[in-house]
Amino acid sequence: MGRGRYPARLNVAPPPPEIAARYLHIWPGRELYSSPETFPAVSSRALFGDNRPLELDIGCATGDLVLALAALRPEANYVGVDIVGKPIWRAVERAVAAGRANVRFVQADTRLVYRLVPDGALRAAYVHFPAPLLSNRQRKQLLISPALLAQMGRCLMPGGLLSVLTDQRPLFDELHAILPGAPALRLVPPEQWSVSMTELVKSHYHRRWEARGRQIFRAELVRQ
Ligand SMILES: C[S@@+](CC[C@H](N)C(=O)[O-])C[C@H]1O[C@@H](n2cnc3c(N)ncnc32)[C@H](O)[C@@H]1O
Repeated sequence: MGRGRYPARLNVAPPPPEIAARYLHIWPGRELYSSPETFPAVSSRALFGDNRPLELDIGCATGDLVLALAALRPEANYVGVDIVGKPIWRAVERAVAAGRANVRFVQADTRLVYRLVPDGALRAAYVHFPAPLLSNRQRKQLLISPALLAQMGRCLMPGGLLSVLTDQRPLFDELHAILPGAPALRLVPPEQWSVSMTELVKSHYHRRWEARGRQIFRAELVRQ
């Protein structure tokens, strides 16, 4: 099975309107780009109506990580963003089945969503197993980028965390190469990592690459 076939194989329909109204925001790229002021802020107040800490899963797919974290930490709110419909519709189904009140999903290009996040609004963000789009032609779509780090330097609260996981050494090297351009973020030494990668929070992709014996590269960055 190749890297990209999993979402396409999902047999899932868009959620009915009453479920979508609670759990799913669909934000088209053209409008997000030209009129960001017409969209709600990505904040606990705007999306959940409270002031709990907020965490963001960037490229959440079927919501494995974000749903596991939402169950483990009911005192926080979770937003999963993915650009593809099917996986995020499945994530919504799972949130409804679990009765999860502290999670929302946004179907959108995450690179256009950052600008809706108020300064310091995030307690944590996760970029786990992003596609390794390292060729010159694909680079514009890469999620590990100077733009991501600059946005995280702004969107994370002081002490807030950015967690990165990948099975791709070149992508991990890329992260380290661009880090000096993001002085607001500092690498956390492994012995101080705060996210514990128990089986409970391992996503489909995490388990898949581990089962194939791939090395998993991990970084935690803290907003200074
Ligand atoms: C390999 S999957 C990893 C999913 C999940 N983070 C995990 O750990 O299992 C990468 C996901 O990123 C999503 N993605 C890629 N580019 C994106 C973008 N610009 N905005 C939002 N999601 C994106 C893809 O649709 C896909 O679901």
